[in-house]
Parts: sequence; C-alpha cells; structure tokens
Amino acid sequence: MNILGIETSCDETAAAVVSGGHIVRSSVVASQTDFHHPYGGVVPELASRKHLEAISSVVSTAIERSGIPENQIDAVAVTQGPGLVGALLVGFSFAKAHAYARNIPCVGVNHLEGHIHSVFLEPDRPEFPFVALLVSGGHTGIYHVTSHTDCKLLGQTRDDAAGEAFDKVAKMLGLGYPGGVAIEEISRKGDFSRIRFPRPYLDKADSDFSFSGLKSAVRRYAETHDITENIPDIVAGFQEAVVDVLTFKLAQAAISSQCTRIAVVGGVAANSRLREKVKASAAEKGFSVFIPSLEYCGDNAAMIAAAGYHDLRAGHICCLTDDVYSKVRLRQV
Ligand code: KG4
Ligand code: ZN
Repeated sequence: MNILGIETSCDETAAAVVSGGHIVRSSVVASQTDFHHPYGGVVPELASRKHLEAISSVVSTAIERSGIPENQIDAVAVTQGPGLVGALLVGFSFAKAHAYARNIPCVGVNHLEGHIHSVFLEPDRPEFPFVALLVSGGHTGIYHVTSHTDCKLLGQTRDDAAGEAFDKVAKMLGLGYPGGVAIEEISRKGDFSRIRFPRPYLDKADSDFSFSGLKSAVRRYAETHDITENIPDIVAGFQEAVVDVLTFKLAQAAISSQCTRIAVVGGVAANSRLREKVKASAAEKGFSVFIPSLEYCGDNAAMIAAAGYHDLRAGHICCLTDDVYSKVRLRQV
C-alpha cells in the first residue's frame, strides 16, 4: 500500500510517499526557518501563510519524485495534531480535499505517533515492545510502545520540552534560532566540564522531566559572570546536563519496564552528543538502540505516512467534517 504523507504542524511543509509503512519512496521538506529567524522563534500566522504558499508544490514534488503513478496512491495520511492550529489546518484541509477528489481515504495522524514511527523508516527496525524517548521542540516524554497503534506514556516534562530549553537558552545568549543546532555547533568548541549545571529530576525514580530550572541556572550564570569569553563552555555545560538527564531517564525507564530495546526520536534526537551518550549507555546495559537518521529526526512527512499506514489498517479514517487539534489528544499516546 502506497501512502502520501503530509505534515504542516509547525514550521516545516512536508510531503512524502511511503510504501508498506516503511519504504520511503520520496520525502520532501520545505523549511520556513529563514522566515522565522528574525523573530527568534516561530510566528504562527507567518507559518500558516508559508504553508499555504508551499503545500501544493511540495506535494506534487513528493509524488513526482516517488516514481509511483498518482492512481497507485492508496491513501493520504496527514498530521491532525498537536501543533499550531493555523499551520495544521493548511495541511489537513489540503489532505482531505486531495483524498476526496481522488476517492481515497484520508487518515488523521497524531504528530507524536508520527515521530515514534520514524524508527520504522530505517533498515534496522525495532520489534515490540520498546521504550521511546520523544524529544522535540514541543514535547519531551518517554513511551512504552507495545504495537503500531498502542503506547503508554511513562512520564513527560512538567514544564519546558528539551528542544524548547535549547531554543530558549540560545535566544538568551543571542545565538539565534533554531537554538538546538546552534548550541550543538558552538558546544564543539567548548569544554562541558568547566561549568556544571544542575541535572533536574535525576534523583527521581519516575520518568518525568523538568528543564525550566536548568534554563534559569544558565540565565543566573550569564547574569553573574562575564560571558563574552566562555559562551562555548556555557552551552557545552548546558547541553551535557540535558543529555545526561535524557540518557539516564531513558535507561531507567527501560529497566523498570523490563525492556531491552530503546529508541530516541524527535528533533533533539539529531543532537550528536545525545546520540553518542545513548548509544554508550545502551552498549553498557546490553540494550538494542534505534535512532532515526538525521533527516527523519526533525519534522517530516515520511514518519506521518508510516504511522498513517497502521492507523488506516486499524480503520481510523477521518471524514470531511473532522477538525485539527492543538493539544495532545489521547487515543494511544
Ligand atoms: O521534532 P521537531 O522538528 O519539531 C517539533 O515537533 O517540535 O523538533 C524541533 C526541536 C527544536 O527545539 C530544535 O532546537 C531541536 O528540535 N533540535 C535540536 C537539534 N536539532 C534540532 N536540539 C539539539 N540538538 C540538535 N542538533
Ligand atoms: Zn515534531
């Protein structure tokens, strides 16, 4: 079965064609980062307008590049939520109209389930169950995934998401947007051991996180020191604290769920220090580890098509009157 995936939940207009739930025929991502850059973050109204400008050509390009004739596309899978409502509406309305005009089903996909499905786009795919750490700009949580359509939230952030903390610290230090990539790059020139920031919630046995105190610790440090010379050490110290907490909590959750397979997904999964430390922790504990390649960490439509494939098989088809949702709506996630 060939699925056309569409994703417009934030600042990426993306479309992809995926066969059988995991074979990526094409994946096109048009990023709006440059347009939001001057504002230091995503401007929702601007995001909707940019999606509207790009959606039609992004979808056509994805279909063209897939090499699959249009009449052999069996369904459309589209992000229904959570995300920016105006941005979601562009992709969701486009997908419903596209499917209606071709008399094929349209499936509304939960964006977080999409991220979890990014691991199935790689040749080495996990078996169930596995424990997934989802780290993005909007969410940070750990899930016990038992099937393509069932997973249980084990714990999540009580305040900022990990990506949000990267973005806010970068903004605070004047490093630009998006912050994660900037911090990772600058950290390479720094020494993470020179400034030790707190590791919040490391002493708690649950899978919850909190990053706003860590962000405040960086602010306090910046306000009380001359930082002109040591930005690389500050951001390296901050990155190390985030990575230590994420790595430890993921391993702890896997051990308490008696799971030997772990995964890391979402935009922050692109962070090379996180990838390195999770792999080292997995090797030490004898876990198998699954982290998507960089192109499938950030928002993309291939992961939406992969999740949509299984939603469709489970009969979750949406109708023309269905609407988007901005907050996590719990079916499985
Ligand atoms: O998954 P994603 O593309 O969008 C959401 O669903 O939120 O994640 C975006 C987040 C941003 O906060 C961005 O700063 C962060 O992922 N990010 C990174 C890196 N690349 C992107 N954080 C740390 N290191 C990176 N290399
Ligand atoms: Zn995302």
